[in-house]
Amino acid sequence: MSNNKKLYIKTYGCQMNVYDSERMAEALGASGYEQVEAPEGADMILLNTCHIREKAAEKIYSELGRYKGIKAENPDLKIGVAGCVAQAEGEEIMRRQPMVDLVVGPQTYHRLPEMMKQVEAGEKALDTDFPLEDKFEHLPDRPLPRRAPSAFLTVQEGCDKFCAFCVVPYTRGAEVSRPPERILREARELVERGVKEINLLGQNVNAYNGGDWTLAQLIWALNDVDGLERIRFTTSHPNDMTDDLIAAHGECDKLMPYLHLPVQSGSDKVLKGMNRQHTAEHYIRLIERIRAARPDILISGDFIVGFPGEEDTDFDATMDLVREVNYGQAYSFKYSARPGTPAAERSFVSVEVANARLQQLQALLTQQQRALQEAMVGQEVDVLFEKKGRLAGQMIGKSQHLHAVHVAGPDLQAGDIRRVRVVKSETNSLGGELL
Ligand code: SAH
Ligand code: SF4
Ligand code: F3S
Repeated sequence: MSNNKKLYIKTYGCQMNVYDSERMAEALGASGYEQVEAPEGADMILLNTCHIREKAAEKIYSELGRYKGIKAENPDLKIGVAGCVAQAEGEEIMRRQPMVDLVVGPQTYHRLPEMMKQVEAGEKALDTDFPLEDKFEHLPDRPLPRRAPSAFLTVQEGCDKFCAFCVVPYTRGAEVSRPPERILREARELVERGVKEINLLGQNVNAYNGGDWTLAQLIWALNDVDGLERIRFTTSHPNDMTDDLIAAHGECDKLMPYLHLPVQSGSDKVLKGMNRQHTAEHYIRLIERIRAARPDILISGDFIVGFPGEEDTDFDATMDLVREVNYGQAYSFKYSARPGTPAAERSFVSVEVANARLQQLQALLTQQQRALQEAMVGQEVDVLFEKKGRLAGQMIGKSQHLHAVHVAGPDLQAGDIRRVRVVKSETNSLGGELL
């Protein structure tokens, strides 16, 4: 194989895809591909895709369309589709867009180097198996160069919850947890490369169950890794918030006071239709227990409006729940019917009604987020600096509560953790002064 081929990867979707893209780049790096920042001039373009909502999935085809010109200039260009659209649509992608040479699912990308050989020989390659072997065991060890101070580390994949609207159990497969010793080894390697913060990932990360370890046990073991300063995890399900995990939020120094805990709706009727297996009351009591363990914890959530059967009173219940919980951060979406999911068979709410509800909900969530940011002004926070800001001498990092904070700090390096006084709140960030 010839050396120094250029690989362009574009990533869509959740953090797990960001992690997978890093691992795919490393896997292909071992076969002579070097990652570049733009599709122009690349030998291989790989889209790591998301199937969660219709818009996300359709975006892939318009993106592929945009590569026609590049392909015309370089007929040797290879194009691949990875991730959840690849898993869900498989061969159909090559039928709709014959320019595509390779389709690989989220559980088979350790086979990419082999597949690339096929593609380089002018064949098409497709692999969307759910293999028996553990892909992580077949990926190259993570290489040594220094890297950004905050890293993702996938510890659990797939989902067994089958929420009625969601494609993840189909695109990612059943819940599987990686063995704790492998995770700890990867964490130590990341720390050697300059990483200070690790965000443990899983579609259902708090259901982690690796060799009988719970997520809390894994977090406590990571707490002992020298040089690692911060631990986060995402995304959690309310039904897997175990007592030891709640307690860890109060007791474990390195575990950051931030929790993304999606509820989707505040109506018990809708929650039932969604197959969420808990009530609004259960969620609210859970948040109370978490706040009792860690009073300053910032709660983040996900919401869906316009789920089939959602009436005005159900939506009002969602607004009530939001008022009761008070979110520091949240994502809200209009329901999107996904092929193959149970809810797709049901009749849905009109687009106008769903749009109006989304606007109303987002206005409330934005108001809460702003108020929480405003309340930070005058407080001292610890910031892990990550990169230079827009202005000369400016550095940007994240507070414990995951607020983006910028300061004037010409001598700061990425990876520094410093105490900062917050002096102002802006739309999506805080301004601070080094102490
Ligand atoms: N595992 C996580 C999140 C999975 S997807 C969890 O259980 O919470 C991220 C978010 O996308 C979900 O929380 C949900 O709010 C949203 N989502 C998933 N499927 C959707 C659909 N069909 N339509 C609209 N939003 C959806
Ligand atoms: Fe999807 Fe529900 Fe699983 Fe989350 S818990 S990934 S929303 S099926
Ligand atoms: Fe999207 Fe797959 Fe993540 S559908 S949200 S990329 S698990």
